[in-house]
Parts: sequence; structure tokens; C-alpha cells
Amino acid sequence: MKCVAVFLSAVALIGIAGCDQVMTSAPLAGDTFSSPMDELPGGLNAAFIQGDENFARVFTVAEGLGPIFNNLSCEGCHPGDGRGTPQESFFRFSKAGDLLSDQGGPQHQDKSIPGVPLEEVPAGVEKSFRLPPPVFGMGLIEGIPVETILANEDPEDRDGDGISGRANWVPAPDFVPESHVGGGPGLHLGRFSRKAQVSSLVQQVSAAYQQDIGITSDFLPEENPHPQAGSVALGDQVPDPEIPAATVLQTVMYVRLLSPSDQGERTAQVAQGAAVFAQLQCASCHVPAMKTGLHWIPQLSQQEARLYSDLLLHDMGPGLADDRPDGDATGSEWRTAPLWGTRLVAEFLGGKAFFLHDGRATTLDQAIRAHGGEAQASRDAYVGLVSAEQQALLAFLGSL
Ligand code: HEC
Ligand code: HEC
Repeated sequence: MKCVAVFLSAVALIGIAGCDQVMTSAPLAGDTFSSPMDELPGGLNAAFIQGDENFARVFTVAEGLGPIFNNLSCEGCHPGDGRGTPQESFFRFSKAGDLLSDQGGPQHQDKSIPGVPLEEVPAGVEKSFRLPPPVFGMGLIEGIPVETILANEDPEDRDGDGISGRANWVPAPDFVPESHVGGGPGLHLGRFSRKAQVSSLVQQVSAAYQQDIGITSDFLPEENPHPQAGSVALGDQVPDPEIPAATVLQTVMYVRLLSPSDQGERTAQVAQGAAVFAQLQCASCHVPAMKTGLHWIPQLSQQEARLYSDLLLHDMGPGLADDRPDGDATGSEWRTAPLWGTRLVAEFLGGKAFFLHDGRATTLDQAIRAHGGEAQASRDAYVGLVSAEQQALLAFLGSL
């Protein structure tokens, strides 16, 4: 039943996501990014289903869409709960660390409702294009204790392997309840988004509603200001807040409870590739698994999160740099991209695949070759492998 609903919503977004291949049968749980974690208790299952509907909900102008926005729904950018394509990407911008919030920053909205001019971006800003990442497994990422993540930090590179890795410490906005991971006064460990610049799911999701869709909530009750509005009020006609806190929290619960997909078959080639992955130090950043702490939801409590990321920032060199700092992250640092679900990437994008923060790589080989900075030695070692070993490594990545 769930799979069919998932299937239907995947079809519904095809027009927006521009997929050119329609799946003809409902995928199995474990073969999709949209299934809940196993055997959720009744109440949580209901919240998951409601959150699923919220995630797919296409907003209209009459419901408060805009005034400026990037897409009509969460699912429009995160098709099937997986990653988007460069078509759905947006850019964040700033100038020498100034987020330019009075000039439309920190995010560019490329669409507006009728009667509202398009947002103009000030000249001379640093732009950073962001491909929508997948949104499954968020509860596992949220549930990993801070100390577990910090145990992999090595900012001074004391072990001399050329790989440092450090946390992005960020303030939480006041509206994030202190009871939520990453909420409250002081600095918090950033875990979410491509530079780990977001510490809590409440912030991530409320900001997505407000910035990406133009939907205000109890958490962010004011519309994202239009930079060219001047003294004219350029709002939609719907009173703010447009959705209650409860709706945002359901959507948070949905991404929290989305299960990562199962790994593929461990053939002899895949096993060889896993060994190459370790040997090339890929695993120093793409840490295969971290364990969550105690959690009131059994499915999130003391679970192995097999995400293949340390959730830390790494300097990836000038080739991947966006030259735009975010929180503590410099213009060349990125959060290690989790590799779970790589097996299913193309399936959700009509046979195409896009990797790295801006989707510039369309194959795994290209993604690896683009690594630089702290990952330069790893990358060079990959390029130097004999073809059979390269193929084994790629087969391993394609099994995750
Ligand atoms: C216009 C496209 C777009 C829309 C609409 C959108 N997102 Fe996103 N989402 C992104 C991008 C791009 C990022 C990465 C942002 C960054 O790195 O700054 C992201 C990041 C996320 C993350 C963090 C993932 C991670 O790996 O840390 C979550 C969770 C998320 N979005 C959920 C949502 C939800 C829920 C909605 C609807 C309320 C939504 N998004 C709407 C594009 C979108
Ligand atoms: C120094 C840390 C580091 C090392 C070592 C490293 N990576 Fe990465 N990897 C990253 C970061 C950070 C990103 C995200 C870069 C971006 O988005 O621009 C990434 C992205 C990727 C991606 C793209 C994932 C996606 O969904 O977009 C793949 C695939 C990948 N790495 C595989 C590898 C392999 C294979 C190796 C070993 C040969 C390796 N990496 C070594 C840090 C590292």
C-alpha cells in the first residue's frame, strides 16, 4: 500500500522534475527512498503518512505560494525523496561574508507569483549552486551523538595523513525548540546541508518552506522579503503564518523516519571494491558507519547508520571551491557527501545521475576525479589503479 502511494507521488512530480522515464511498477521497500523505518508504532506511522502528504503537497498562490519561490513542493526538488537535478538547484549568495539579507540573500529565488517581479541579484556576489541532496535517513544523522562525530575530527592533521576534517559550529535560530537536537543558545554542531551549516531539522525544514516555497509558518512567520519591493508590499494575499508549527513538525518527522535503502548484493567484485575503498583512504572521510545514541524512537536508538560520511567539513581544493563561506565553513570546505543510496540514484532521475554539491558530475568516476585538497592523494591513487580495481571500486559505490 505504502509503495503504491510512493509510486503515485513519484509519478506526480515527473512534470516538475523533468524526468524522462516513468517507472512502470511500484518499487519494493528497501528499493526506494520513500519508505518508513521498519515497524513504526501506530502513532508515528500516522505522523509519517501525514508528513509524506505534506512533502508532496503542491502549493498554489491561493494557499500562500511565494511571493518569490524556487519550487511548488518539497518533492519537486527532492524527487522520490532522493536528490534533485541541476534544474532544481538554486544558488546561495553573499559578499565577503555578508549574507545580504536586505538584498535578497542568502538564497536566490528564481520564480515569483503573478504581479511580483523576479528577484534581482546584486552585482559582484559570490554564488554557490546547490543540488538538492536526498532526504532519507535524517533521523539517523540527527541521532549520532556529537562526541561520536567529533571523534573523527583532526583539524591539525596530527596523524599526518593529509586529511583533517572539522566541525561546522553554528548558532541555532531562536525559533528552534531547545528540546530538539541542534536547538538552544550557544553554538551547535552543524550536520545538515552541503556545508553542514544547519544544526537542526526544524531549522532546515522551516527555512525550506519559507525560502524555497514562500510558505510562512509559526517558526518563520514572515515572508522572505523581496529585495526590489521598496516601500510597496509585495506579499501573496494569504495571512501569515500560512502553515502551523504542527505541519512543519510532521514534515520534520517524515524526513526523520525515512529509511535509508538496503545495500545491494555483495558480489566478489563489490567485496574487492570495499577493500580498495579502505586502502585509498576514502573511508577516512566517507566513514562507513556511525552509531546513534539512545532515542525514544526504537528505530533510531543505538542503530548503525551506514551513511559513508563523517559529517565533517573537508577542504576539497580550488576545483570544488565555491569561494563562499557558510558558518565556519570556508569557500573550499564541504561536508563529506553521504554515499548511502548511491545504488538507486539514477533510477530516481529517469536514468540520469548527478553528483557533488552542484551536480557537475554525471558519473561516479567524474565525481572521484573532481576530488582535490585533502582528498587529492586519494583521488590520485584512484586514477593510478589498474582498470579492474577501478571497476571494483565503482561497483562497490554502486552497491551502497
Ligand atoms: C528549490 C528546491 C528545494 C525545495 C523546494 C526544497 N528543498 Fe530541501 N534542499 C534543497 C537544497 C539545494 C538543499 C541543500 C542546501 C544547502 O546546501 O544549502 C536542501 C537540503 C535539505 C535537507 C538537508 C539534507 C542533508 O543531507 O543535510 C533536508 C532535510 C531538506 N532539504 C528537506 C526539505 C523539505 C522538508 C522541503 C519542503 C518543506 C524541502 N527540502 C524543499 C532544495 C530544495
Ligand atoms: C578528504 C575527505 C574525502 C576523501 C578522502 C574522499 N572523499 Fe569523496 N567526498 C568528500 C566530500 C567533502 C564530498 C562532497 C564534495 C562536493 O559536494 O563538492 C565527496 C563526494 C564524493 C562523491 C559524490 C557523492 C554525491 O552523492 O554527490 C563520491 C562518489 C565520493 N566522494 C567518493 C569517494 C571515493 C571513492 C573516495 C576515495 C577514492 C573519496 N570519495 C575520498 C570527501 C572525501
